[in-house]
Amino acid sequence: MPDLHVVVLAAGKGTRMKSAVPKVLHEAAGLSLIERVLRTTAPLEPASIIVVVGYQASQIQEALGKRLGLAFALQEPQLGTGHALLQAEPMLADARGTLVLLSGDVPLLRPETVERLIRTHEERAAAATILTAVLSDADGYGRVVRSAGEIASIVEHKDASPAEREIREINSGIYAFDLAPLFAALRTIGSSNAQREYYLPDLVKIYRGRGLKVETVRLDDPREILGVNSRKELADVATILRSEKNDELMAAGVTLVDPATAYIDPDVTIGPDTIIHPGVFLEGKTTIGSRCEIHSGVRLVNSSVDDGAILHNFCVIIDSHVGKGAQLGPFAHLRPQSHVGEEAKVGNFVELKKTVLGRGSKASHLTYLGDTTVGAKVNIGAGTITCNYDGTTKNPTVIEDGAFIGSDSQLIAPVRIGKDAYVAAGSSITEDVPAEALAIGRGKQVNKPGWTKSRRKHE
Ligand code: UD1
Ligand code: CA
Repeated sequence: MPDLHVVVLAAGKGTRMKSAVPKVLHEAAGLSLIERVLRTTAPLEPASIIVVVGYQASQIQEALGKRLGLAFALQEPQLGTGHALLQAEPMLADARGTLVLLSGDVPLLRPETVERLIRTHEERAAAATILTAVLSDADGYGRVVRSAGEIASIVEHKDASPAEREIREINSGIYAFDLAPLFAALRTIGSSNAQREYYLPDLVKIYRGRGLKVETVRLDDPREILGVNSRKELADVATILRSEKNDELMAAGVTLVDPATAYIDPDVTIGPDTIIHPGVFLEGKTTIGSRCEIHSGVRLVNSSVDDGAILHNFCVIIDSHVGKGAQLGPFAHLRPQSHVGEEAKVGNFVELKKTVLGRGSKASHLTYLGDTTVGAKVNIGAGTITCNYDGTTKNPTVIEDGAFIGSDSQLIAPVRIGKDAYVAAGSSITEDVPAEALAIGRGKQVNKPGWTKSRRKHE
């Protein structure tokens, strides 16, 4: 097998997006367009991947970061797709074999399709092979002009005659090239066209003129080569991507009550017999176990939920963990580095930050626990607040196994509540409480008999 190289074009501004963010960094169903295109190339194991960047190049480079085998070529100014590919030449000076050209704005393409393109290209020993598709509405795309069945040229929509605009076979913008004649030929492309740009597809006519072999691979499912040029197309593509992910999950035994409103990112995993209600957002590297129930309005980001846990409506869980059989919400908020133990309960309007709630412990109502380690079988009464911040530093609270914190207490950190200790309701606790002790930290109640009557006399 000769070497395989990949070039991804991503230098354009994406004017029709009307955005300050470069087009290829816009996300569809949890991944940027360019990230999706790069994932398509992974199974091909190319010798090199070059991304051609231009408009807001540094933003794209930063977003993609350093990766093995990934390099960037700068196109400045952006004079068209032919000019863009030429910028990769210095990095491919000694390369031989096949070059696959992908567009950073065509995110639905499947690896199997690219493999088919490469296979056809190499089997037929072509100089160029073009992925095409037949669309019912070909508006905006370059049209494939054939003569006696063979591809003769590609004409851009803006340059096409009325007769050419009737053609429904379009150029997908995805190609395989033999590297040997490529760059010399690219330099001969001109820019006398409607957009004053160096069109890469002009290569077809040049190759045919020289008697070089140009082949096509026609796609069965034209959806795969949908390009994103506007926000509308971004939304359309996201809908397709989500439904693909959701179909996979359902096939693996997950119930999605309403797949149209299940927003599940590509890297999320979910175990069988878990039920996902409408309007749930599962983002990033989230994992959900089996037999869980996730009710409407829940949002999970980079979090894990173990088997049998129930998340009631409107919980927000970020970078946290929920143990087996635990119950959360409605309206619970787990901020980063929180860990809810097995069979534990976090009720409504409870916020945890950097907090461990031990096995079987409960914080059922209106509570804030920050920088806190709670042991097993602890009961945290309604309205308990850990005062973890003194204006300068964050201080820890420790509540040992079996402790009972009465309602409306403040635990002023740093502080430790010993094993099986009790804190009386309404206490402000400033000192450690020994194991099995009762701490009462509030003013003593005074009753004044007949006070109301005596007040009225003075009115
Ligand atoms: C291009 C093709 C068209 C094809 C269509 C398929 C050309 C001239 N036309 O048109 O035949 O039907 O794709 O989607 O190639 N880019 C650069 N530098 C530039 C210009 C563009 O890197 O100077 C990049 C863009 O960022 C984008 C890709 O090339 O990722 C395609 O450019 P775009 O302007 O979207 O081309 P289309 O008009 O869609
Ligand atoms: Ca495009």
